[in-house]
Amino acid sequence: MANKPMRVAAIGDLHVQESDVAPYRELFAEISQHADVLALCGDLTNFGKSTEAEILAEDIKACSIPVIGVLGNHDYECGQPEKVAEILRGAGMTLLDEQAHEIDGVGFAGVKGFMGGYGRGELAPFGEPIAKLFVDEAMNEARKLENQLRTLRTDRSVAVLHYSPIVDTFEGEPEAIHQYLGSQRLCDPIDRFDHVKAVVHGHAHHGTYEGKTPLGKPVYNVAQFVVKPKFGRPYALIEV
Ligand SMILES: [Fe+2]
Ligand SMILES: [Fe+2]
Repeated sequence: MANKPMRVAAIGDLHVQESDVAPYRELFAEISQHADVLALCGDLTNFGKSTEAEILAEDIKACSIPVIGVLGNHDYECGQPEKVAEILRGAGMTLLDEQAHEIDGVGFAGVKGFMGGYGRGELAPFGEPIAKLFVDEAMNEARKLENQLRTLRTDRSVAVLHYSPIVDTFEGEPEAIHQYLGSQRLCDPIDRFDHVKAVVHGHAHHGTYEGKTPLGKPVYNVAQFVVKPKFGRPYALIEV
């Protein structure tokens, strides 16, 4: 049924470690009872090690609903994000990066995103080549998100990110690190497409659960450390 609300469970910052034993198996089974889709918002592993990804992959297999998501900065730490993605894809997860995905009439577009700041504090592509490269990374992530959103023909979609597109949802984090928590460049494509009904992201472990884009679209920081104290369970449940 195309217009039936979809229940999206979302959780970010799983940070699976090599010493973990089936860390999310029970939780994913529980989520499968309450949601139609599970979105994982990056930092799936602690260091981007293959063994960490393999541990998570086993738990993903315990999930009986579709699992989609993006990588986070931690998944890049060992310099092999493609390997992490390959292991998770092997378990049936859909990793969003270049291509949007549709499930039962709802579109999902996702990128890791990048840092760079907001408003007047946003880093500009000016001066040294390395400064321009840094800004290019944020622009590339925003471009990939825009291109995915453009391909969607659904009347509802969810943007899945690791870094935050707005400042509201990292309220609570030290001001000195705000420019490293996300980029306003991610927000522009979200507000450009009417079909985007919700945004989920992680990364800001000490941030705030809910905020809005300039056009009023809901943005949820689903880092498990933010969600758990609020709801008594580490995942958010959002209807779109
Ligand atoms: Fe994290
Ligand atoms: Fe992160």
